[in-house]
Amino acid sequence: MEEVRLLSLFLFLQICSRVGATEYPRLTFAAIGDFGGIPLPPYSTYMQKKIAKVMGKKADLKEVKFIIGLGDNFYYEGVKSVEDPRFCSTFERVYTSPVLKAATWYMIAGNHDHASNVSAQIAYTKISPRWHFPDFFYTKVLEIPGSSKTVQLVMIDTTLLCCKHQRHLKNLPGPQEQLRWIERTLRDSSADYLIVAGHHPVLSAGVHGNTQYLESKLKPLLEENDVTAYLSGHDHNLQHLKEEHSNVHYFVTGNGNFYSPVPMHRHRVQTSLKFFNGESGAFTLFEATPESLKISQINDNEKEVYSAELKPRTILRSLSDNENTILDEFFTSQT
Ligand SMILES: [Fe+2]
Ligand SMILES: [Zn+2]
Repeated sequence: MEEVRLLSLFLFLQICSRVGATEYPRLTFAAIGDFGGIPLPPYSTYMQKKIAKVMGKKADLKEVKFIIGLGDNFYYEGVKSVEDPRFCSTFERVYTSPVLKAATWYMIAGNHDHASNVSAQIAYTKISPRWHFPDFFYTKVLEIPGSSKTVQLVMIDTTLLCCKHQRHLKNLPGPQEQLRWIERTLRDSSADYLIVAGHHPVLSAGVHGNTQYLESKLKPLLEENDVTAYLSGHDHNLQHLKEEHSNVHYFVTGNGNFYSPVPMHRHRVQTSLKFFNGESGAFTLFEATPESLKISQINDNEKEVYSAELKPRTILRSLSDNENTILDEFFTSQT
């Protein structure tokens, strides 16, 4: 009899946890940068595979829906064509957990990808069901299931913004064109969480330090438009930075493959640096709910080395006709 009661209790708790897991509005996703293996057999690194395994485990557990790939997808010189075997050896055969295979990978290019043919990476969108790279820069609005709240990704190409002087980039979209698009996209956003993702960091304590062009041209746009977070890679470590005068949070998650523990430019960001860790590979996990955006930075030993919780934006959106009528009636009744 006791066994039956215990079994019933166990089943009841199972059902409760299932209902909780599926009904609570949340959208989980991950970000990883600089995960492009090596250009020699086996075309992936020990650390890249280790992180892929940890990310797969967490992704399965947390029901991750999509991944943000932050560039430097193929070391050291990108891919040559859409048939390049590196798509398979450095990407498809490395990220093999069921949820990572089912997730959409929103991709952008890094400086190493631009050393070769980024158009081939864009074309690969039609070949791989999970690789989503429709253009050099693009945006995507995603709903938090079970709510009317949204997360908007604004995926940008920082190599085209900062390094356009390099001869091989001459025929690609210029910085002015992209900046105008970024400004328009951010201004028009009514998302509850607005996330901009680019390869180069705006602010960084790492070896590369702040990216001057982004600091002067992009940072004001992020601040004016109440961007929730700017994500980047390029420096091969984890970082969280936030300047006191602004609401924008900056996260670096560039150690999907290589790692760099030296905060060489720490002095330049001393007052805004909240966290720095480059002791191993890592990735970043996000959990968006209507109330908050939880960010966890996780290392190769599955350890959450840092976490932060951000609030949704408070957007002054334009009122619908129906809402205007209700307000009119309210004020009329008050006079
Ligand atoms: Fe890199
Ligand atoms: Zn890079």
